[in-house]
Amino acid sequence: MDIRFLGHACFTLSDGETSVLIDPFLTGNPKAAISAEDVPATDILLTHGHADHIGDTVAIAKRTGAAVTAIVELANEVGSEGVDIHDPNLGGTVKFDWGSVKLVPAWHTSTTPKGQVNTPAGLLINFKDTIVYHLGDTCLFSDLQLVGKRSPIDYALMCIGGHYTMDRVDAVDAAALVGAKTVIPCHYNTFPPIETDVQAFKSDVEQSGGGHVVVLDPGDTHQA
Ligand code: NI
Ligand code: MN
Repeated sequence: MDIRFLGHACFTLSDGETSVLIDPFLTGNPKAAISAEDVPATDILLTHGHADHIGDTVAIAKRTGAAVTAIVELANEVGSEGVDIHDPNLGGTVKFDWGSVKLVPAWHTSTTPKGQVNTPAGLLINFKDTIVYHLGDTCLFSDLQLVGKRSPIDYALMCIGGHYTMDRVDAVDAAALVGAKTVIPCHYNTFPPIETDVQAFKSDVEQSGGGHVVVLDPGDTHQA
């Protein structure tokens, strides 16, 4: 499986046939590695409704036919634009032919560009038996340690930029709580308020035994 970082909190998980697209904020993203017109998607997953996560979801879903999975209120808003949806709530799991997605808590806020308030989530993804946890936007909280209880987490896609989420220092503790084998940082250096030292995060996590950190530049792919 390829994990490709497309900038900010956007990733694709792909095996060449299936391409699961997460939080496709591309138009207006100064670090976007691909355009909304070109990005592949067979499914789209959303952590929450902020503009820097919902992004180009509707346009990409209409172009590709991908169904959108998001917490129920957000899914319904997206679905009202005429795209297919899956609408779980926290604790719920949606199954696909390639695996599954479970929504887990994230401590944050969420309002869509249309003004709908909804609840943010993290995404616990099983992609063909590789477990990937996209934390969404969150602060540090102790229940992060519960997410991997059923299945050990292979990859944590973790916000580290501060200001709107936990910063790189709190994220070191988050990495320890999540216990993933590999951490891929995101949600930093997109805009000035979230600039941070990603190499310091990497060394702090690795020196504290919080897992291996893989730093991807936008456009980079990690082969899982
Ligand atoms: Ni947010
Ligand atoms: Mn965000």
